[in-house]
Amino acid sequence: LGRKVHLFDEVDSTQTIAHKLVASGAEEGTLVLAEMQTAGRGRMGRAWHSPAGKGIWMSLVLKPRIPVYFMPQLTLLCAVALCRAIGQTCAVDVGIKWPNDLLIGGKKISGILLESSGEDERLKYVIAGIGISANLLVEDYPEALRPIATSLAIASGSLISREKLVQTFLFEFEELYALYLEKGFAPIRLLWEAQSVTLHRPIRTMTPQGPIEGIAEGLDDSGALTVLTPAGERIKVFSGDIELR
Ligand code: BTN
Repeated sequence: LGRKVHLFDEVDSTQTIAHKLVASGAEEGTLVLAEMQTAGRGRMGRAWHSPAGKGIWMSLVLKPRIPVYFMPQLTLLCAVALCRAIGQTCAVDVGIKWPNDLLIGGKKISGILLESSGEDERLKYVIAGIGISANLLVEDYPEALRPIATSLAIASGSLISREKLVQTFLFEFEELYALYLEKGFAPIRLLWEAQSVTLHRPIRTMTPQGPIEGIAEGLDDSGALTVLTPAGERIKVFSGDIELR
């Protein structure tokens, strides 16, 4: 993975570029990196703050022949790989908030957005979009983000090597991806659970059926979060955001 790298100064979104590259035949492992995004995308239609030169804004092309239904597993795998890579490159205590936000001291430092294209219920390709707030300083964030977002530089007190972090991530990802394609989700699920800051904690989330509160118990085989409500009911949360309480 990452043997073909496309590096840009400025793009609207590395996701958009990666989709276009796939349409013109890009192979699995193709990586798109940009110094800056003018229209970085986050999950659930949100914008992703991607200022110039300070972050890692990248999209990785994957072509796993797995059912569309398993895509959440890949986002969780991505989060584990990123968590391990960060742990190896800088002195911070990073954890995963379900499904795939990386937090340091309760503040977000990284987000993952997977976009797919399906065919016959199997995935044709997936673009794994990863944003890492590496060397942003407090003044690089708009006011509104300051209480909820941080960066590796702010948290560790020193600037980090973006090249080293990308390389370490690709190495970790490749290893876990091979494990996943060979053995399935079970080993990834254990690794995710070990890095999670969500499990065994009270959480709250909105679902199409209304709000749910309870204790986050674990992941099921598809990667959904199982929540035990005060009424003793077990509910699965498949997507969306959770609030840690
Ligand atoms: C989230 O937490 O909401 C996901 C954020 C994903 C951001 C990355 S940055 C690189 C790639 N290109 C985008 O436009 N988005 C993803």
